[in-house]
Amino acid sequence: MFNKIIIANWKMNPDNREEAEKLASLSDREGVVICPPFVFMETVLKAVKKGKVGAQNCFCEEKGAFTGEVSPLALKNMGCEYVITGHSERRNILQETSENVNRKAKKTMNLGLKTVVCVGEKKECKCDERDYENAEYIKKQLQESLLETSPENLIIAYEPVSAIGSGCPIPTYIAKDRMNFIKKVLIDIYQIKVDDEEDIASVDINIPILYGGSVNKDNASSYLYDAGFDGLLVGGASLNGEHFQKICEKIKK
Ligand code: PGA
Repeated sequence: MFNKIIIANWKMNPDNREEAEKLASLSDREGVVICPPFVFMETVLKAVKKGKVGAQNCFCEEKGAFTGEVSPLALKNMGCEYVITGHSERRNILQETSENVNRKAKKTMNLGLKTVVCVGEKKECKCDERDYENAEYIKKQLQESLLETSPENLIIAYEPVSAIGSGCPIPTYIAKDRMNFIKKVLIDIYQIKVDDEEDIASVDINIPILYGGSVNKDNASSYLYDAGFDGLLVGGASLNGEHFQKICEKIKK
């Protein structure tokens, strides 16, 4: 079992250092990982005392002639401990493939960075039914993104695209169903020995699985405790310090 973890994905916000500093101080708390844009990495690293800092992306090589890219080794050397890979906005807007995600994840996990690999159904899927086709889509994303990796330093974020930034989170029971499906796929990928695969909800596979997609202070508890996710990946609601503090308060001691 893990302590619950809450990751703040600021995306391309805010637009100035003063706000980044203020938001980082307000959000700083044990169990919280703040992922700012690269330009504010140093500012946030200085402001954060209790929590951790992560990157929203990085390149799959440590250094060299890769104009505009960011080295995972440089991130690590600066004090960054987490990296998000394969966020759906990168997959959909920037055409990042699971193969790209796999190259990055291999590199960051080997460097000892906690690597958050994001997966989730396509936008068209409204997640109002437990349909086979969309579950298969997630399975393929996992198999391709995690090819030839070991589960050490791995965190999975389940984010149905229809729920991201839409204000329409998916029902807890469907999220829970998907989490258990993801667990089964991970058991298969890493050949994890489990005693009772029938009771998948209570099986501990030692890989944290987070939920993301329109998380707010009112629904955070249900994903953490009713569905049983190991944590949350929070976008929009992490940009309001007071609101984010209320989400963080849901982590039971
Ligand atoms: P959201 O974003 O909380 O604004 O839906 C989540 C994410 O994209 O990680």
